[in-house]
Amino acid sequence: MSTDSVNPVPGPGRIEHLALPAAAAIGRMLVLGGGYTGRRVAQALETAGVPVLLTHRQPSPSGREPGWLHFDPDQGALPTQADLAGVSHVLVTIPPNAGGRDPVLESLEAQLRRLEPAWVGYLSTTGVYGDSGGAWVDETSPTRPLLERSRARLACEQAWRRSGLPVQLLRLPAIYGPGRNPMVNLRNGTARLIHKPGQVFSRVHVDDIVGAVLHTIVLPSQARPDTLILADTCPCPSSEIMGLAAHLLGCQLPEVQRYADVAPTMGPMARSFWSENRRASSRRLRDDLGYRLLYPTYREGLPSCSGDFF
Ligand SMILES: NC(=O)c1ccc[n+]([C@@H]2O[C@H](COP(=O)([O-])OP(=O)(O)OC[C@H]3O[C@@H](n4cnc5c(N)ncnc54)[C@H](OP(=O)(O)O)[C@@H]3O)[C@@H](O)[C@H]2O)c1
Repeated sequence: MSTDSVNPVPGPGRIEHLALPAAAAIGRMLVLGGGYTGRRVAQALETAGVPVLLTHRQPSPSGREPGWLHFDPDQGALPTQADLAGVSHVLVTIPPNAGGRDPVLESLEAQLRRLEPAWVGYLSTTGVYGDSGGAWVDETSPTRPLLERSRARLACEQAWRRSGLPVQLLRLPAIYGPGRNPMVNLRNGTARLIHKPGQVFSRVHVDDIVGAVLHTIVLPSQARPDTLILADTCPCPSSEIMGLAAHLLGCQLPEVQRYADVAPTMGPMARSFWSENRRASSRRLRDDLGYRLLYPTYREGLPSCSGDFF
């Protein structure tokens, strides 16, 4: 498998404890996008005994890494139908392209259709809900994307829906986990302690994306909601999680900065993150589908990442 050949999957987390029921009928999983989440999902599925194909924009370094699929539609690197033989389930982790369109649908839709997959998971974002002023949003909330990238995302969601493939939209808030969390920012000097009154962020531990995928993928299709938010239960100010990060590392917090003072110095991307305020609810996942979060809050999730440092 190719998951750790180029970018090692950091930290053990708890995904080794995740399992699929013996009866799970997954022939072969195609994970489109071998990035942070894609690699983690691929690793867990492999551990559970599922054959996985994971796409990369680079060709396989040796040309022989099992499971490595070269996929770079911008450069014309596309898999053949033979490469995809046996694929029964598909997870798309690739975001919209620079033009705001979906690179997978643009290049692979017909091939995916020929595979007649039982499930296509599409990782999207809770950004499609726009700004709720800090109120909770769930799968029934109206989508009112404000940012251009969130409008593109909603358009991609809709294109997946129109594809007629058995698509499940998995909407995510900020993803954190080993190698990607505030402790990393404190250690590499990029952490900022910014206070904006009333502002919260929702988040999800990467291994709960893995766990939720394994949980829902084996449900009968009629029991699988077409849209699902994957989030922990504790939206909070970024300063709160930064406080725990500094405590775990035994280091000092950076100086507190007022958002109003630093906003003019922020780049457009950073500013856009602070421009929306919402709490994403995963009640459907937890209560209706019975998924038990591995990391219900950052208080469990962040310490699980400290293995990167000690
Ligand atoms: N990160 C977050 O906090 C967050 C929050 C909400 C939603 N999401 C969404 O959730 C998904 C997974 O997030 P992530 O953080 O795991 O993403 P990631 O680490 O950036 O991985 C994305 C993968 O997609 C590949 N990719 C990107 N554009 C591509 C293209 N045009 N053609 C082919 N491959 C392409 C990348 O290839 P390379 O490795 O070659 O770049 C990478 O393997 C993404 O859609 C992301 O937008 C992320």
